[in-house]
Amino acid sequence: MSGRLRICSCPVAGAAPDYGLRMTRTSVRPPLFVCSTCDYQSPKWLGRCTECGTWGSVAETAPAPTAPARSASGRRSENRAVVGLRVAPVPMPIGEVETAGASQLPTDVPELDRVLGGGLVAGSVTLIGGEPGMGKSTLLMQALGRLASRGARCLLVCAEESAAQVRMRADRLGALASELFVVSETSLPAVFAYVASVEPVVLAIDSIQAVHDPDAPGAAGSVTQVREGAQELVRLAKENDIATVLVGHVTKDGGLAGPRALEHVVDTVLSFEGDRHHALRMLRALKHRFGATDELGLMEMTASGLVPVSDPSALFLTDRRLGATGSVVTAVMEGTRPLCVEVQSLVAPTGAPIPRRIAQAFEGNRLSMLVAVLQQRAGIALANQDVYASVAGGVRVAEPAADLAVALAIAGARDDRAVDSDTIVVGEIGLGGEIRQVPQAPRRLLEAMRLGFRDAIVPTSTPDVPGMTLRRVGDLRQALGAAFSRSG
Ligand code: TYD
Ligand code: MG
Repeated sequence: MSGRLRICSCPVAGAAPDYGLRMTRTSVRPPLFVCSTCDYQSPKWLGRCTECGTWGSVAETAPAPTAPARSASGRRSENRAVVGLRVAPVPMPIGEVETAGASQLPTDVPELDRVLGGGLVAGSVTLIGGEPGMGKSTLLMQALGRLASRGARCLLVCAEESAAQVRMRADRLGALASELFVVSETSLPAVFAYVASVEPVVLAIDSIQAVHDPDAPGAAGSVTQVREGAQELVRLAKENDIATVLVGHVTKDGGLAGPRALEHVVDTVLSFEGDRHHALRMLRALKHRFGATDELGLMEMTASGLVPVSDPSALFLTDRRLGATGSVVTAVMEGTRPLCVEVQSLVAPTGAPIPRRIAQAFEGNRLSMLVAVLQQRAGIALANQDVYASVAGGVRVAEPAADLAVALAIAGARDDRAVDSDTIVVGEIGLGGEIRQVPQAPRRLLEAMRLGFRDAIVPTSTPDVPGMTLRRVGDLRQALGAAFSRSG
């Protein structure tokens, strides 16, 4: 492990040019006003932030001290000792650029690796955001425990809990590995010092909002503090090839506290979501510089930590009432994985001049469009009806492949007719009422077959799937005929 960190102790290093750390800005700066929600900066006070639209969030901030003010004897020069000096970059043909820095460290937490596309990347910074109590610290501890048990030295900086509390969690999660180092610390300079002495391969900070940099303005958790702290940690990660994980809390409205600025600084932003009263947890990548962002990680919080959901489709269909009107099952793709989910609709007469169209767990505009197409292309009268539609189980569906299921659920709810409970429905609907093909239809149908579905209403071009009866439909009227022919 020794020698991983390039610690500069030779005199030559001290005399070498200090790329990137020494900036000279000496002019007196005017006051700066910063939005506490989105970090927007303005030279004058604003009642409402012009960037994010929040009222009363812009306040004057003391201008951040410039780098030279701290470079002589302050911590930045100490940081330099930790992070070493960079070699001056030279432009070179792209094919000659070394890619060694992009090696991946699988965490052995399967759903985390699925979302990361393999594992943590050396030298990268990953932000895990989520509401308090979601299980961020648990997920982190499980990942660090497994990485450390395979010999990767990990340093966990717990800025919110004592080392004893963290040890108790590690006990419960079976994460007591000798290569996992823990320190309860909130001061950023101290964190740098610990990194220099422990020389970790993986550094985790729980949470970035609780870490304080005495050289930066503002209280712990303020936008400036979070941004400055994150920037220094990113630099530390890049220059020493440390895979770094930052835990971040989200605000009430779902944004990561502090920071849009923080989202720009890090390589990967993961969002850990779920309902605190249910055990299901969903992990998604909102940004990922090293891979796709469409994979969904599904886990359950148990007494012994987070476990992967072994059969998500079965879980989402657990509470389905067979034969209920307004209920249709469809198969959506979440990244590379097909998932069967139940779409539900309720249609109720209304006296309101503008009837309500309320979508839960999928896009409201899509619902309005489907209602219009049902009315205009299939003659389903919905003008005096409130229409509610939702996806049961908590997964958010963004795919047009669920259109036909939503439309049939609405039509069924409107006329109190049920689609057969062993029928799966897949298809996108165009504005002309035509049913369009969906990508990976066979994979979706095979997943449905695994769960016992034997009958499918699908777009005309769908290839045969042995063992399943396909009813191919070209437009919405044909689909309504196929879906409700038996229930009359
Ligand atoms: P935690 O990881 O502390 O959440 P966060 O860091 O996002 O605030 O844990 C969330 C909840 O999970 C906590 O209330 C206790 C519960 N929990 C379990 O159910 N099982 C476990 O094994 C652990 C460690 C926690
Ligand atoms: Mg926590």
